[in-house]
Amino acid sequence: MEKIIRIRRSGPLKGSVGISGAKNAAVAIIPATLLAQGTCILENVPPLTDVHTQCDILSALGAKVQWLDATTIKIDPSQAVNGTPPEGLAAKLRASYYFMGALLGRFGSARTGMPGGCKIGPRPIDQHLKGFQALGYDWNVKDGEVILQPGSNDREDIYFDLVSVGATINVMLAAAGLKETTTIENAAREPEIIDVANFLNKIGVTVRGAGTGTLRISGDARRGATAHSIIPDRIEAGTFMVAAAATGGDVTVKDIIPRHLEAVTAKLRETGVTVVEGDDWIQVQGPVRGTAIDVKTFPYPGFPTDLQQPLASYLAICSGTSIITENIFEGRFRYVDELKRMGANIKVAGRAAVIEGVEELLGATVRPYDLRASSALVIAGLVAQGETRVRGVKHLRRGYYDFIGKLKGLGADIELI
Ligand code: EPZ
Repeated sequence: MEKIIRIRRSGPLKGSVGISGAKNAAVAIIPATLLAQGTCILENVPPLTDVHTQCDILSALGAKVQWLDATTIKIDPSQAVNGTPPEGLAAKLRASYYFMGALLGRFGSARTGMPGGCKIGPRPIDQHLKGFQALGYDWNVKDGEVILQPGSNDREDIYFDLVSVGATINVMLAAAGLKETTTIENAAREPEIIDVANFLNKIGVTVRGAGTGTLRISGDARRGATAHSIIPDRIEAGTFMVAAAATGGDVTVKDIIPRHLEAVTAKLRETGVTVVEGDDWIQVQGPVRGTAIDVKTFPYPGFPTDLQQPLASYLAICSGTSIITENIFEGRFRYVDELKRMGANIKVAGRAAVIEGVEELLGATVRPYDLRASSALVIAGLVAQGETRVRGVKHLRRGYYDFIGKLKGLGADIELI
């Protein structure tokens, strides 16, 4: 029987919370270990279901994967073969597509199922395939599998038609297997991309320009073993910052890189939140009641699309009218219907959600459809009158490690039933 998260109005959250490693870096670096010439030790890995699935795929390909403790993995990729990631695993998450780039980088060909992941829009992979083609590979899709083979077309530099985190990382992994230098223009700049690039540079792949729109990659001198610590998860950190603001609390988010949260800090301050930044922590003191703002999601360093859902739960009780414009994904407002069942006053028109702040939300039984909608509905439950039941804890476990335990540690009245 699927467990349910039961939340009661909790009052201001107080205390400090440690942030885990970044999901969206870990799910890329785990496949990237296929490119190493020796054993890799990955530290600060968040033990999330998506991370475990990536490890299971890696093991299914023949690599040796061993958890040394709750957040450290030892990976020996030397025995890996160019197999097809098991369909049942690849379909569980979007990031399984990183095995395309990693297998190309290691073996020069790849065959894998279409990825799964949150239903937040069509999420095609045309830019990934465009990048692989520019690297000289032919691709075709047959029976739901993507088959990539060495092709006859000449290699050329890559210009992405749109900024894509996944395509940038995937093509970087494939390019890591080529001696000559590959240039990628209009690359994504997310911190997770810099983290993957730092890992690749440690194993002897040369990656220049990570964090800018132009990357240059060459896999000339691959080296052996390496240790790498995954960067902190800025989306988990931002989620707790929003929860602190929404409950009018006083929370210090620790073990983070504050620079990664500049857009979130700026927008929360606009609502009247006091934010103090340390070197590896941020303290958030929520107002009694926030004031409405307008937010537009953009690729990094813009406001992250992964936090528009939690933010909406906070803006739902701020005074005034807020507008959220979602510029990245077409279908990322499905959670609004669930918030409206809790008394929120939100109208969605295309890419925009117009939020009329209400005095308070009312507890209800709600169902999130994706990972970030889960955390958004939990935040709504923290401030709603009465009791809220959020179904589908499996979504939450994909992206937040011990979210319920961490909220309990801040005084939330929350439990799994
Ligand atoms: C990554 O998804 C993250 N997932 C997402 O986080 C995040 O929301 C997203 O980047 C944007 O920051 C992982 O890293 C595993 P994109 P990704 O390629 O790579 C379109 C979470 O909650 N597009 O940057 O799939 C696409 O449809 C998840 O942790 C194409 O059209 O995102 C979207 O509209 C949710 N063609 C936009 O670009 C392509 O070939 C940005 O997508 C690729 C993408």
